[in-house]
Amino acid sequence: MRSTFFPKEFIEKYSIFLGNEWEEFFKTIKTKQPKSFWVNTNKTTISDAINSLKKNSIKFTPLLFHPQAFKIECNTPGQLEEYKKGLISIQEKAAMIPVVVLNPTKEDYVLDACAAPGMKTIQLSNLAKKVFATELNSKRFEILKKTIARFDLKNVEAKRIDFRNLKRNKRFDKILLDVVCSSEGLVRKKREALVGWSQNLVKRKAHDQKHMIVRAFDYLKEGGVMVYSTCSFAIEENEEVINYLISQRKNVVIERINLEGVKIRGNNYCKNCVRLYPQDNDTQQFFLARIKKEKN
Ligand SMILES: C[S@@+](CC[C@H](N)C(=O)[O-])C[C@H]1O[C@@H](n2cnc3c(N)ncnc32)[C@H](O)[C@@H]1O
Repeated sequence: MRSTFFPKEFIEKYSIFLGNEWEEFFKTIKTKQPKSFWVNTNKTTISDAINSLKKNSIKFTPLLFHPQAFKIECNTPGQLEEYKKGLISIQEKAAMIPVVVLNPTKEDYVLDACAAPGMKTIQLSNLAKKVFATELNSKRFEILKKTIARFDLKNVEAKRIDFRNLKRNKRFDKILLDVVCSSEGLVRKKREALVGWSQNLVKRKAHDQKHMIVRAFDYLKEGGVMVYSTCSFAIEENEEVINYLISQRKNVVIERINLEGVKIRGNNYCKNCVRLYPQDNDTQQFFLARIKKEKN
């Protein structure tokens, strides 16, 4: 078996950050990630999807944080008929959580600001009234359009655009800002994910993320909610980005997050921000913050 690539600088940084937990952290991110799926209620019901999988003797268990989320015991879920028909999407457990925490309802007009390939767009489409999905990269935008078609996301309007160029007076009830990051969390899926990693990359991403979070916040209605998420473990790309937003806008409130069946951790860098440690829930590493826009 090929071994996972870790830059020396990465090991040094996270062994200091994690202290006596670093061995467990590194051990976990070297192992294969468990598989999970989300039931696409645009095309089926939870019970029909479950019955179809049961008929085919596929083993799965509910994930407690959302009724549409399940862990699956199947090495090739991409080969399942239910997936091919767009009845379920294959999505890592931690990656489902930003939308669950955003908690859109059938009243909400939602901006999915960094949308491709669109796995979270599927979840948003199932739960919200309408979704406006923006994607900057043209190749990735084509993938997003395919996701929208295959999963029958009729309430999603997609545009190939930098979301920061949307009309200044546009406002949304909820926003998902699932930004590009240094991709540290992808290392469980792709052993070579950290080949291009460096502290400089982290700094460059953090610079962009600070610009994006302020612009996204300005597109929220008063009383609206945004979730900021990354699969990075870097404080620079996470808590520091949230603290930057707090320093730039007066009406920012970071709300407390509660999730059933998931161990989450906070730290002293930013109150109510949440981290998922891979060893706690057998996930990729993840960061998220639920941000409310108070009245001015
Ligand atoms: C982490 S990925 C999003 C993953 C996606 N939310 C999902 O769950 O399938 C970030 C995406 O944001 C896009 N992106 C980066 N900057 C953007 C911007 N300013 N406006 C719109 N899209 C952007 C990238 O091209 C990339 O496809």
